[in-house]
Amino acid sequence: MITQPTSRCRQFLFQQIEPFTIAIGIYFLQGSIPIAIGTYLWPMRIDILTVLPELLESPFQHSIMKRAQDKGLLEVVTHPLRKWAVNDYGQIDDYQYGGGAGMVMMCEPLAKAIEELSAERKYDEIIYLTPDGEQLNQRIANSLSLKGNLLMICGHYKGIDERIRQHFVTKEISIGDYVLSGGELAAAVLVDTIGRLLPGVLNDETSALFDSFQDNLLAPPVYTRPEDFRGWKVPDILMSGDHKKIDEWRLEQSIERTKQRRPDLES
Ligand code: ADE
Repeated sequence: MITQPTSRCRQFLFQQIEPFTIAIGIYFLQGSIPIAIGTYLWPMRIDILTVLPELLESPFQHSIMKRAQDKGLLEVVTHPLRKWAVNDYGQIDDYQYGGGAGMVMMCEPLAKAIEELSAERKYDEIIYLTPDGEQLNQRIANSLSLKGNLLMICGHYKGIDERIRQHFVTKEISIGDYVLSGGELAAAVLVDTIGRLLPGVLNDETSALFDSFQDNLLAPPVYTRPEDFRGWKVPDILMSGDHKKIDEWRLEQSIERTKQRRPDLES
C-alpha cells in the first residue's frame, strides 16, 4: 500500500517559495494554526539504508532529534541492507570490474531494497551520501526540510555500483571534502541539519533562523552569566537593554566575523 506522501501538502504550499522566506513566514506565523496542523498531520519520514544500523542508533536517541521524534514531527527508520543480501552469507558487495582494491556495493540488494521501500511510500528524494556529491550547506538543508519522505543510502568500501546512482538516486550529498569510512555519519549529520528545521522541533523556533549560514552570515558571539568572569567582561551593549542597538551590534559582529573567517560566503 502506498502511504500518502507526507510532503505533498507542505510542498504544495511552499512550492514557489524560497526556504528562507518560509522560515521568515514561520517566524511571523509562529504558533499559528495552519503551520501547527500541517506539521503535526504530515511529519517528515526519513528511511536510511545501511549495512551498519547499529551506528545510527545513538544519534537519533538524544536531545533535539529525540524530541522531534517524541513529538511526532520526525520519523527516522533504519533498514539493514543485508536483509536484501544476494545469498545466505549476507553478501551485499563484490570485487570491482577492471580490478583494483576495495569492494563495491552490489546492484541487486540496493535495487531490491529501494524498490521495496518505494512501494510503501513515494520518496521526494533518494539521497546517496558520498564524498563526490554536492557539498551540504544550509540552503540544501532548508530545502530538504520542506520535503516529506526521504530515503538515504549509506555507502561503504569503494561505494555503490554506478548503475544504482544513475537509475535510482536523485540527489548525491557530501558533508565535506574528506572521506569517512561509510555514509552513516554523513547521514546522521544530514538528518540532524534537516530535523532541527522542522517547525515545532526547536523550543524557540526563531533560533534556527539566526543560526550561522541562514543569511550567508556566521552567527555573532554570545555570552551568559557571569557578567564579569576573571575580569573578562561582557560587551556593554549587551547589558544596555536597548534591543534595537543590540540587534544592530549583532549584525555588525556577524558581518565582521564572516568577512574575517569565511570571506567566501559574502554575497
Ligand atoms: N561517505 C564517505 N565520505 C563521505 C562524505 N565526506 N560525505 C558523505 N558521505 C561520505
